[in-house]
Amino acid sequence: MKLFPISSVAMRALAAGVTLPLVLLSTAAQAESEPQWRSGQYLYDNVCGHCHAPEVNVGPSLGGRGLPEAYIKAIVRNGFNAMPAFPASYVDDESIAKVTEYIATLPLVEQP
Ligand code: HEC
Repeated sequence: MKLFPISSVAMRALAAGVTLPLVLLSTAAQAESEPQWRSGQYLYDNVCGHCHAPEVNVGPSLGGRGLPEAYIKAIVRNGFNAMPAFPASYVDDESIAKVTEYIATLPLVEQP
């Protein structure tokens, strides 16, 4: 007789449910102490998008405008009015290049 009639799929789902939040927590902690961002999308979703996503509309929508890396870098490094500056220790040059690529893939959203 089986004492625990639980399928291995369910076991794996349970295990994933327990470990996934820990994985997310540890990457969030790393993101604060390490300059590397895993991808342009990850940086956008966790930083830029909190203000720039069209549905948030705190900062102007960035997608589809062909914004050059040098321009994005200048704004990210120096800030711009309500936008805070991000030092290289938080968003390194490589991450700016990656987020520029990601932003280029986003659709153009006309805003008033
Ligand atoms: C706390 C909110 C906030 C965050 C986070 C933020 N921005 Fe901004 N950003 C703004 C605001 C507000 C403006 C518009 C400033 C103005 O025009 O006076 C802006 C302007 C810009 C501009 C110029 C847009 C234009 O229309 O010319 C760029 C490029 C930009 N941000 C890129 C980024 C990138 C890349 C990130 C992520 C690394 C980021 N921003 C994170 C608020 C933010």
